[in-house]
Amino acid sequence: MTFEMSDADYVREQYASEDKLDTRASVWRPTSDGLDPTTEALRAIDRALVGDADVLEIGCGTGAMAERIHALPGVTLVATDFSERFVELTAARGVDARQADICYLPFDDASFDVAYAGWMLYHVRDIERALNEVRRVLRPGGTFVAVTNGNGHLADLLREAGGKPLVTRFSSETGESVLRRRFDDVRRHDLETRAVFGDHASAQAYLDTLGGDLTLPAFEGQREYAGHVTIFEAR
Ligand SMILES: C[S@@+](CC[C@H](N)C(=O)[O-])C[C@H]1O[C@@H](n2cnc3c(N)ncnc32)[C@H](O)[C@@H]1O
Repeated sequence: MTFEMSDADYVREQYASEDKLDTRASVWRPTSDGLDPTTEALRAIDRALVGDADVLEIGCGTGAMAERIHALPGVTLVATDFSERFVELTAARGVDARQADICYLPFDDASFDVAYAGWMLYHVRDIERALNEVRRVLRPGGTFVAVTNGNGHLADLLREAGGKPLVTRFSSETGESVLRRRFDDVRRHDLETRAVFGDHASAQAYLDTLGGDLTLPAFEGQREYAGHVTIFEAR
């Protein structure tokens, strides 16, 4: 397993097109009590809105969440991503989408009431610079909603395939203390999700999207693996 989640070439290659992200997204199911992390993140964004609001999404991917944020009453949304292809896909959903790196956000100070970054801070090498940028573009009293995975996320799958758990710079374990350096009030919501693979081929296909030569020993039938997601609300 040789890939590094915050390597710039790895990130560029991962998101040059939607195929790998779509393959991974398709296996996720809600928690045992029916909670879906994306819907919980949308609720956190909604809670932070007071009247008409300017919202920034960073690392919007294919724009599925951007479309849902855009539909919230009173919201003016700008969605951003590093990947040109993802900006194109998000714009096709009728959202104002722009190419931007979280470390160099092309916006004036205090431009947004809410910022959202879903499953992207673990790709950022200079997390301090990224969060300085988020803090800078947020208005005083603004809210930052960030979603990330824990070290145990799919750890059993990775181990069985000869790999190691993914330990990243911004995780369920580290996110709270990193955010507290910039925000006075940090809340968290931890969710135990699950990935369901209909057969061995679909589990191996998921691993193949990560790179790193992971090979899962053969098995019959369906399998589930535990995921761990945290939604942080910081203000
Ligand atoms: C795992 S995907 C998540 C996409 C989307 N938020 C979702 O939940 O489906 C990570 C996204 O972050 C973007 N990204 C990675 N590094 C970035 C950076 N430095 N600045 C902006 N976007 C970045 C990638 O292009 C990709 O779209």
